[in-house]
Amino acid sequence: MHAFTPSPDAAVDKSARHAELRAAALAVTEGERDAIANMANVAALIWQFLPGLNWAGFYRLVDGELVLGPFQGKAACIRIPLGKGVCGTAAATRTTQCVADVNAFPGHIACDAASAAEIVVPILHEGRLIGVLDLDSPQPGRFDAQDAAGLEALCAAIAPALAG
Ligand code: SME
Repeated sequence: MHAFTPSPDAAVDKSARHAELRAAALAVTEGERDAIANMANVAALIWQFLPGLNWAGFYRLVDGELVLGPFQGKAACIRIPLGKGVCGTAAATRTTQCVADVNAFPGHIACDAASAAEIVVPILHEGRLIGVLDLDSPQPGRFDAQDAAGLEALCAAIAPALAG
């Protein structure tokens, strides 16, 4: 198993960091068909590569609702209906939700009181919603358009490996 090591923070800017993460995620999922195993490894890579997170992981679309998948961070809520919270909104609208202040997001579901900012990216494969990628941070405004673009590119690249 190849060990993936992010460059030191000072050495790369944010988009280069996302490119490193994407390359590592593609390498670690290559040739593996088990979606849960792939989500587990990608959650670990996100945790390793992106600074300032207190939660990173997946919710899978199962029988019409979001169900907790592999993640890093504290234990989290298990089931989220479509349209509810940041995750359910991203899933229902199929659009990335980049939230600078979760307390200002109507219906935000607080799993960890430390979370201040959140970004949720829908994962689509061949037009089908597979689930969402969810990142939380204790830093207000932690996520920006570069993170949205980087994480959307990540989800597009690895969607086939997460589709099961
Ligand atoms: N805050 C999310 C719930 C999931 S946790 O952050 C891990 C939401 O509002 O959907």
